[in-house]
Amino acid sequence: MSESSKQATWGGRFSKGPAELMLRFSESVSFDQRLALFDIQCSEAHSAMLAEVGLITETEKAAIHSGLAEIRNQVEAGKFAWDESLEDVHMNIEQALTEKVPEAAKLHTGRSRNDQIATDMRLFFKSACSELDGGLKAVLAALLDQAEKNQQVYIPGYTHLQRAQPVSVAHHLLAYVEMLGRDLDRVAAVQEEANWCPLGSGAIAGTTLPIDREFSAKYLGFVDADGTPRVSRNSMDAVSDRDVHLDFAYACSMIGLHLSRLAEDFILWCSSEFGFVDLPQSFCTGSSLMPQKKNPDAMELVRGKSGRVIGDLQTLLTMLKGLPLTYNRDLQEDKPPVFDALDQTLISLQVVEGVVSGLQMSSEKCAEAVADPALFATDVVDYLVRKGVPFRQAHHIIGALVAFSEEHAVPLNELALEDVQKVDSHFEADWVDCFDVEKALAARERTGMPGPAQVSSQIEAWSDRIS
Ligand code: ARG
Repeated sequence: MSESSKQATWGGRFSKGPAELMLRFSESVSFDQRLALFDIQCSEAHSAMLAEVGLITETEKAAIHSGLAEIRNQVEAGKFAWDESLEDVHMNIEQALTEKVPEAAKLHTGRSRNDQIATDMRLFFKSACSELDGGLKAVLAALLDQAEKNQQVYIPGYTHLQRAQPVSVAHHLLAYVEMLGRDLDRVAAVQEEANWCPLGSGAIAGTTLPIDREFSAKYLGFVDADGTPRVSRNSMDAVSDRDVHLDFAYACSMIGLHLSRLAEDFILWCSSEFGFVDLPQSFCTGSSLMPQKKNPDAMELVRGKSGRVIGDLQTLLTMLKGLPLTYNRDLQEDKPPVFDALDQTLISLQVVEGVVSGLQMSSEKCAEAVADPALFATDVVDYLVRKGVPFRQAHHIIGALVAFSEEHAVPLNELALEDVQKVDSHFEADWVDCFDVEKALAARERTGMPGPAQVSSQIEAWSDRIS
């Protein structure tokens, strides 16, 4: 078959086929074959609808469906012969189908590749969001498990990467639970946004044929909670809209960003300087030169890959911003960044789950760090406030006390009571209780604070939510 006659779907007005270079340049089947099962689903729905409204017979529909079933089997078995000269996933499947089933020449009645690809992608997004939901919940479960185990392991919390105030490891990990919990909501919102059916919008202006868009939408599961079909309302918007691609890439970017921050904390924590955590060997690598090294490569790659996913979002934004209505071939470039964003996000989630599940907090190193009395300086301010000293004044007094302790090289909590009382007469013997980490945390039991009862109730609430 010559290249031009192979282009059976649009070759009619052409006397010459595309140049070999053009075929190589414009093909998308090398990446959009990933949509094959969604494309087949879409064609099943469309042909069922054509039969329903009488545009094809039940026999023709049955033939098309059995041909599609055969192709589905081939695709699933990895035995379908993809042909780049047939451009994209749609033409490959339609061509193979027509070779098996002559009735398939009627399949493209009342539809265009423009509404077809928009529909395939929405089916893809619904399924991709379910995968992300599963990946996020697995990481959340691992974080909650470590939080549960590390409620009584305390570390300094940091601001400006300087020791600030003590917290439990559990409270620190729960901060990431909150972030990834917001990601769950974001992913659910994208899934909801994907739930509109563009099929029937045609190339740009629908069709004169009596199709039933609601039938197709329902067939494909584009329905609301009551089962009412959700069909797009403007054919021009429907074939050119890529908002859900952007929403999806943004949701992936946010997951990547949160995982990257988590990775950065673990990278710091496993350094000799911190020593708070021992990361599982199965997710670390050694050095070819330095025998002592155990490098947190998995976490560094999670941090690195988030940049790549943010790049995918940027690619889509840049591609779309100047496009006139409606479909433009530029839009074919929407798929690689979307697939990349999903793949990198999913594998990053799996790796983080593996690392979090296997990590071991080093209670000794954590205890050493949290013994730094300076971490409790704010609690000493509160001590004076409770005795009626105005906050600004109390802050100043403790500042002077810190300077005094540094000057005399005596740790803050070991200053003699009479020296402390010289600085301010409100101090009594119980002032040293301020340096007890358990007491410091037990005093913080208002909502969202790191008090132990708060922390355990947050762990419980989140566990309920993801189970
Ligand atoms: N492969 C194309 C894409 O992904 C499908 C739509 C083609 N439409 C067209 N008018 N050439 O965008």
